[in-house]
Amino acid sequence: MKNKYTGLVCSFLLMLCGCDEGTIYPDETIDSGRTASVTVTFKGIDAWPKENYLSLAAFGTNTQIPLLTKRISKPTIDGRERTVKLNNLSPDTKSINIAIISNGKKVIYSYCNQPVENNGENIEINFGELELASFKRIQSQVFKTNCLSCHGESSSGLAGNLDLRENIAYKSLVNVKAPVSEEGMNYVTPGDPHNSFILEILEENPIHKDMFNSTGKQEILALIKTWIQEGAPNN
Ligand code: HEC
Repeated sequence: MKNKYTGLVCSFLLMLCGCDEGTIYPDETIDSGRTASVTVTFKGIDAWPKENYLSLAAFGTNTQIPLLTKRISKPTIDGRERTVKLNNLSPDTKSINIAIISNGKKVIYSYCNQPVENNGENIEINFGELELASFKRIQSQVFKTNCLSCHGESSSGLAGNLDLRENIAYKSLVNVKAPVSEEGMNYVTPGDPHNSFILEILEENPIHKDMFNSTGKQEILALIKTWIQEGAPNN
């Protein structure tokens, strides 16, 4: 017992010596003291991500892997201004973004970004109003990664005769009658999710209903629903 105890004390003293030399911490834990203060007003908060995280993120030259992220908590009401801070920015920081980031720190979708100068000064950004349920996000997060292999970029034809490629998808969907809908629905009826066949396909069609895990599916359905509810703008 006594020996063990002595050992503990010794290693503690050794640790203290290590601290004095300033060598045991990697550089990134030293507080740079540089902070970014970001002001933003969220709209369409029903499209707040459920599987991924809405985050404030600092990027260096690599725009796919953030240097630093901070999850933003979901506001209780739409349209109230908030200020969120990102502390201890690395000197390599090149931009500050508001982005949807996965649990594994992958960028799912970046809403906006502000380039940052390398002058060490604190940063203040006002991103103004940010609409979470944008068609750009649907195109990028949903269509581009999950649908184009069959709906637009397949050599073996266009599944369901529906083209979801960028710059085409909006015209393919909004106010367009879905030929196979028994109720004669449009793919997307602005302001009316219950009359929008795309949601029915993603929830019930055998090819589509298991494309996502359950929270992933909740996230993309909430996104498309909120966008339709808000009038399905080309935003
Ligand atoms: C593996 C291939 C595949 C993928 C991936 C896929 N689909 Fe489909 N989709 C089909 C096929 C095949 C049809 C034709 C209808 C059927 O056979 O049920 C179809 C039909 C549809 C229709 C109805 C079109 C019509 O009028 O017949 C919609 C809407 C649709 N898909 C949306 C999507 C969306 C949105 C995604 C991505 C989240 C997606 N699909 C991903 C194969 C795919």
